[in-house]
Amino acid sequence: MPKLCVNIDHIATIREARKIREPDPVAAAVLCELAGAHGITAHLREDRRHMQERDLRLLRQTVTTQLNLEMAPTPEMLQFAIDLLPDMVTLVPEKREELTTEGGLDVAAKIDDITKMVNSLHKHDVSVSLFVDAELHQIKAAVRTGARLIELHTGQYASAYDFGEGNDWEEELVKLDNMAQVAQKSGLLVNAGHGLNYRNVGPISEIKGIWELNIGHAIVGRAAMVGMERAVRDMVALLGR
Ligand code: PXP
Repeated sequence: MPKLCVNIDHIATIREARKIREPDPVAAAVLCELAGAHGITAHLREDRRHMQERDLRLLRQTVTTQLNLEMAPTPEMLQFAIDLLPDMVTLVPEKREELTTEGGLDVAAKIDDITKMVNSLHKHDVSVSLFVDAELHQIKAAVRTGARLIELHTGQYASAYDFGEGNDWEEELVKLDNMAQVAQKSGLLVNAGHGLNYRNVGPISEIKGIWELNIGHAIVGRAAMVGMERAVRDMVALLGR
């Protein structure tokens, strides 16, 4: 059974719609943990559109499971991470104009910079995961950086499953499964995420060896209707099936 890490960015999105104090992602993280989440993920974006530095600092003090900081591989963010010391950093590509993270990180093209960043974070005892597309050359590059984790981008699978976009979802699933097995044989722990929801998560959670799933939008969206604790419990139950 994969672990569930809840991405709580969109609690901050709701708050930032009014630029006031509520709802507070720190309170949401407590509820996620009480409901059985194995970790909390937050993305501090360059444009600070949802999470703020204050949120990450308080989450560092309050999260008792595992705090995963998602961030772009920039010198400014590296310094922030070294000051914060989250349990884990997930490096993601970032574009100002995107609605959400669009593709995986091009580790192969930026191998030197990413390797340096992985080394710096490891020196501070911070685990590093690289968010990559399910492509062999990216997995091989990830291994070369010395990172011990990757997060496979499930966005294309999710679009195929939910909206019939692109390839068949079964084809996307086979690709993810194959790359998950290759990565594990190369010694990496394999996480997955992006676009996962209560309908499409089943086949992904059955991929052999998947360690953690990062799920945000679907859980926060359901939480708005039924409450955070129930939304998290429903997802934990699905993963355990
Ligand atoms: N994993 C990564 C690397 C992401 O950037 C995001 C979105 O912030 C997620 C997982 C969660 O995606 P979703 O909100 O679609 O569940």
